[in-house]
Amino acid sequence: MKKDLIIAPSILSADFANLGADVQSVLDAGASLVHFDVMDNHYVPNLTFGPLVCSALKKYGIKAPIDVHLMVKPVDRLIPDFIAAGADIITFHYEASEHVDRTLDLIKAGGCKAGIVLNPATPISVLDNVLHKCDMVLLMSVNPGFPGQSFIEYTYDKISTVRNMIDKTGLDIRLEVDGGINLENVRKVSDAGADTLVMGSAIFKTSNYEETLNKIQQQLS
Ligand code: DX5
Ligand code: ZN
Repeated sequence: MKKDLIIAPSILSADFANLGADVQSVLDAGASLVHFDVMDNHYVPNLTFGPLVCSALKKYGIKAPIDVHLMVKPVDRLIPDFIAAGADIITFHYEASEHVDRTLDLIKAGGCKAGIVLNPATPISVLDNVLHKCDMVLLMSVNPGFPGQSFIEYTYDKISTVRNMIDKTGLDIRLEVDGGINLENVRKVSDAGADTLVMGSAIFKTSNYEETLNKIQQQLS
């Protein structure tokens, strides 16, 4: 059964010179989860921000949970730093961990929610033995590394399949989708079974976040 829908603005497209205020504005406009894209110019061909920026947002007064999407390899070394920085959810790419079960344990031992990220070409079968240990599954609907890319159409089938897998477990596991979600396709992504929708450029590249979030909600209702 699908859960309540959450829109998670990806701050990759926020105003970095004014980050605390920009993140607070999108939360004030109605968003409830901050999607925090960490890139290392190694696992993905781009470089963003690390745990210092996460703790700076918390110190600034950001109260919404921070959903840290790690696109880094190796991944384990950074996890304790993000736990200390106040992350609430930490997800990592299946291919970026040498020992996926151990990485999940490392995140959960620090009191954070843990999730595995599947790239567009990563088969769903990688979840078979560890789904029960996940609080979230994140399906990439673009190849990771950049905002503003087009949604990869075959992701819809993956969303439906993972939705069914999660439902069969009966466990409390969120299904997040990330990349290329906009006003035109958000309803279809939700109807396929996603309950947590990451949106970067579709929110931050608009001038009135409240109006944009309202338009998204209209599409979803
Ligand atoms: C891509 C990132 C996404 C990205 C989404 O590697 O993980 O979170 O910022 O941006 P949009 O919504 O613009 O595709
Ligand atoms: Zn992301």
